[in-house]
Amino acid sequence: MSAIDDIKQRLDIVDITGSYLRLDKAGRNFKALCPFHQEKTPSFFIFPDRQSWRCFGCGAGGDVFAFVMKKEGIDFGETLKLLADKAGVSLERKKEIAESKLTDRLYQINETAAQYYYRLLIEAPEAGAARDYAMKKRGLARNTVDDFKLGFSSGEGLKKYLAERGYNEKELLTLRLIGEKDGRIYDFFRHRLMFPILDIKGRVVGFGGRALDDSQPKYLNSPQTPIFDKSSILYGIDRAKGTIRDKKLAVIVEGYMDVITAHQYGYTNVVGSMGTALTEKQLNILKKLTRSIAFALDPDTAGDAATLRAIEVARRSLDRDDLEMPTWLGTTSRLKADMKIIPLPKGKDPDVLIKEEPELWSQLVENALPLMDHILAVTASRLDLSKPEEKSRASEQLLPLIAELDDDVQREYYLGKLAGLLGISEKTLVGIAARLHRSRRDKIPKAETKAAAPSYFGDRLEEYTLSLLLQHHELRDKVKELSPEHFERTENREIFTIWSMARNIDELLDKLNVDLREHLSYLQNRALPPATDKDRERALIDCILRLEERKLLNLKIQEESLLSDAEFEGRKEDIAALQQRGVEINLKLKETFENAMQMTSSYREEQ
Ligand code: UTP
Ligand code: MN
Repeated sequence: MSAIDDIKQRLDIVDITGSYLRLDKAGRNFKALCPFHQEKTPSFFIFPDRQSWRCFGCGAGGDVFAFVMKKEGIDFGETLKLLADKAGVSLERKKEIAESKLTDRLYQINETAAQYYYRLLIEAPEAGAARDYAMKKRGLARNTVDDFKLGFSSGEGLKKYLAERGYNEKELLTLRLIGEKDGRIYDFFRHRLMFPILDIKGRVVGFGGRALDDSQPKYLNSPQTPIFDKSSILYGIDRAKGTIRDKKLAVIVEGYMDVITAHQYGYTNVVGSMGTALTEKQLNILKKLTRSIAFALDPDTAGDAATLRAIEVARRSLDRDDLEMPTWLGTTSRLKADMKIIPLPKGKDPDVLIKEEPELWSQLVENALPLMDHILAVTASRLDLSKPEEKSRASEQLLPLIAELDDDVQREYYLGKLAGLLGISEKTLVGIAARLHRSRRDKIPKAETKAAAPSYFGDRLEEYTLSLLLQHHELRDKVKELSPEHFERTENREIFTIWSMARNIDELLDKLNVDLREHLSYLQNRALPPATDKDRERALIDCILRLEERKLLNLKIQEESLLSDAEFEGRKEDIAALQQRGVEINLKLKETFENAMQMTSSYREEQ
């Protein structure tokens, strides 16, 4: 991951903008008076979902980097330093770590520490209580302890053990295996049952340690280190990956113990989210194995709208993962994401449930409800559907979700289901839904599926455009319509900005921040398909149209997010204004589409 991505993952745009502006909550989003132009009523919005901001008054917008650059009036390099500092990302250290030798050594140290903790748990007299806790109280088999390499941290001796094997204090501090306070060194984990945390390749990246009694915190985890980032880890993934692939299903539970018990009982496609909501990075790991994910949720979480929404967002981001490219480059195939909910009985986490009733667990997993069915069920149980006003509330909440489904068969199915639930005729409901669906879809085919969520693997369209420009100087005067705002990825936007001001490549290199050189050189050197001058020119125009289309779609998504907040809160004036703006964007989109169509057909004719 690049330093920029790392920084963005760790910072929240709401915190950063909030430190400069007075933010007011507006539904899921936030608003403020725009700092970039004079105004009396707020038209500056922050979208936490997409980690972006936009002012609908002056038109400025972008990500957290764009905001700080503009607000502080500083250049990209200074912004990078400032935000890296805020995020606790060391730019220097990041570079060092790219040297894999150093990283390998860090993994080795963790491995050795795990070995040390393990030996203590198995052999040490002072680990008696921990052994009883793990095996008697929590019912873990000796085999399981070995498989997961559980251990015990006595609170002393680790440093000496590692020193004898040639690892120094500084390295241990880096891994946060030890801490330092008032010049004194101490073991970070003390009197805890240790859970080594392995990445998908089986390397020990960090540890979790459970208290053996009621002391707090219940679990202590390794803090962020150069090789440990809690948000990008799924506990147990190294042991689960094979089964996940074979069974084409990943089951996600919350806790360490839940994972371990599941595996002990033979349910080996289970991984742990370690108590946090599923992150984009965790999703990226899973999607290489399967697109079917079942979430084991306790009743509170399973009824929680925010959780379900997060899962729905994840599903969509999986669905629209691959951006379509100019056709002559070839398109990629896509697999649909499939998210299910396993509702757990009250008060029983998987660990307890599996131990008490293993068959019930497999039944629950087998009968996991597709997300949409679950949402219908939850809504139905929350509302009193004998009352007309609660019926319309339910249909207001649920129809948009159903209308957004891409698949016609599924849409029909859930409409029928909802009609049954509400006891109104399907025809009435279909009428309302069709209106909703048309207004959302018809003017802009596939609007929402095509707009890409920010991806952590670069952006092919942006990179392709930049490569064309960097490798073919003669295309320079063909990009008048292109602006930095057409680029979503921070590094691409910055490279484009500097490129458009520089007279030649030397000047570009000279002015570009050093941290972006590697990316620049990638763009300059990657192989492009062989093409004639004319082909290239056409490809460039096509790219520009697509970038423009995407910019408008993003704008539209932001508008729709504001609109749904306004509708939810019943702000009539805002609704009208937003709808008006929506119409304008639709018109522009239509124009872009028509241009694109025209281009494609003229291209076909020539062929
Ligand atoms: P839970 O509180 O549900 O604990 O946290 P648990 O896994 O059921 O623990 P046991 O069964 O009492 O041993 C779920 C997960 O959240 C993270 C851990 O990853 C935990 O497994 N967590 C929880 C922490 O990191 N720190 C805490 O203090 C608590
Ligand atoms: Mn538990």
